Amino acid sequence: LDVPRSELLDLAVRIAKEAGDMLVAKRPRRPEIVETKSSPTDVVTALDHASEELIRGRIREARPADAILGEEDGLSDGAGRVRWIVDPIDGTVNFLYGLPEWAVSIAVEVDGEVVAGVVNVLPRKEVFAAEKGAGAYLLTTGERLHCTTGVPLEEALIATGFGYARGRRKVQAEVLAHVVPRVRDIRRVGSAAADLCALAAGRVDGYYERGLNLWDYAAGALIAAEAGARVGGLHGNPIGPEFAIAAAPELFEQLHDLLAPLDPARDA
Ligand code: IPD
Repeated sequence: LDVPRSELLDLAVRIAKEAGDMLVAKRPRRPEIVETKSSPTDVVTALDHASEELIRGRIREARPADAILGEEDGLSDGAGRVRWIVDPIDGTVNFLYGLPEWAVSIAVEVDGEVVAGVVNVLPRKEVFAAEKGAGAYLLTTGERLHCTTGVPLEEALIATGFGYARGRRKVQAEVLAHVVPRVRDIRRVGSAAADLCALAAGRVDGYYERGLNLWDYAAGALIAAEAGARVGGLHGNPIGPEFAIAAAPELFEQLHDLLAPLDPARDA
């Protein structure tokens, strides 16, 4: 690689901060929906596009050979080994309503492996970042992050989210009905990236969701893993759009065994 990974992370952090500051400065009281995608929940505002444009522009200036995959504008091919995975606003519904959990998420992949990730949770003024093998940090305070350990399922606070595709929602509700009585409680915060960072910071004990997109979880999953969480899918599969689970290894097993028999694939 032409630069150390830490330089890629530094660049990602600088860009995520700039995009975040722009979003805070330009967010009107009630941003306008310019488009809905898979369902009425799946909204896009003009600032989703503006944020992605800014991020793409900065990446291209600094590293013109890299590929970029973004939520709003898809994949721009690059000639090099590096691919940037960009969610210009994760938690767009929160952004729309002025709820305080939305984030700019940027991950950097080298040869197909995520090696750096940053999640800037603007309304909280918290920037989370991780480099593969070097731990996860809340940059705002310099604190190294560790997920909780030794929490049994029945005492676990579990974050989750609901993928936006219409057909999936009923099954998600059924899965939830099965999980709620077996855990301490559930949080549906509205940003997968923020959920994974909350897990890394020990603010929730576990997380699961079906039907994410790569840009929703790429940076957050590295941050959670570098904070000690096991991150994966069902039946030994890696984390993916099919399923995402993250928790300390013992809780991961329990959460997995609770979710696996619910056959979440049947609404595919
Ligand atoms: C969404 C959020 C939400 C999750 C959805 C995602 P977006 O991302 O992360 O928490 O439940 O599955 O699509 O669309 O706001 O970037």
